[in-house]
Amino acid sequence: MSTATAIAHPNIALVKYWGKRDSTLNLPATGSLSMTLDIFPTTTTVSLDEDAAGDILVFNGDERADGPAERVTRFLDIVRELSGSAVAARVETVNTVPSAAGLASSASGFAALAVAAAHAYGLDLDARALSRLARRGSGSASRSIIPGFAIWHAGDSDETSFAEAVDAPDLAMVVAMVEKREKPVSSREAMRRTVLTSPFYPAWVSSTAESLDAAAEACRAGDVERLGRITEVNALRMHALIQSCDPPIRYLSPVSVEIFDRVAALRDAGIGAWATADAGPNVVVLTRPESVTAVTNALEGIAELAVARPGPAAALVTRAGE
Ligand code: DP6
Repeated sequence: MSTATAIAHPNIALVKYWGKRDSTLNLPATGSLSMTLDIFPTTTTVSLDEDAAGDILVFNGDERADGPAERVTRFLDIVRELSGSAVAARVETVNTVPSAAGLASSASGFAALAVAAAHAYGLDLDARALSRLARRGSGSASRSIIPGFAIWHAGDSDETSFAEAVDAPDLAMVVAMVEKREKPVSSREAMRRTVLTSPFYPAWVSSTAESLDAAAEACRAGDVERLGRITEVNALRMHALIQSCDPPIRYLSPVSVEIFDRVAALRDAGIGAWATADAGPNVVVLTRPESVTAVTNALEGIAELAVARPGPAAALVTRAGE
């Protein structure tokens, strides 16, 4: 029996992925740019089982037979097709990121699953191929294959849509966990609704493509101020876009908005800090390592805080069997 265990970390986008041009191949409408974190790892073991009738998913100790299990099976079907195998697998995953709260648990989840499944099924994939594979599970997972800062090139085909590393200045993120609750609408459904119903969607696509070019340039040039400004503007544009759906969706809570205000006040006081938020109420503050204490002091008491630095690539931990 072949078994492989892999570990991956979540990533937070500075320029967001929001909207697909192809939902089967999971091709995004625009490229995006992120930092992989060094906290909240997901560890996943994939064990092939010749005798099993179907795949089994055990998530944080509980066997699942619902949506997540189906999504894992659909993903493993891609790996089975690539490897020419028909064998079912047992997938055990331990996720330390607050699930479905907008902290990109699907990113670390599918990045770890891609690495573990590829090894368990005997595929020899480089980082680019792993990023393409992880993308099929969840778009943002393509970036969690990569250490530190990553650009996910939108591409226009399975082959051309992958993430790769980009040089960046020394940065940190302060994660403010506002509420650990299930989000009201999944990001997948919200993206679909955005593409179908928001009149602002075309403007989002064109402005995000411009922001990505500018952010990549700022990254390479080590221009933290410019990168920070682009990050906050892009996040607020994404949330404005999401709020313009019909029926509308709003992920930010009053506490999230208060955090954006406190971050703006920090900037007024001369501290370089910029806020972003994914599909949930949590807010992540981008800052220089030397300003982390100023940020955590400013956010003390409003939310549970965690400090992250650029994290490692998704990696194989152990492998056994053929
Ligand atoms: C707001 O990667 O979870 O975090 O491809 O449908 O699985 P699917 O979507 P997902 O969306 C992430 C959206 C985001 C922005 C980002 O991470 O770029």
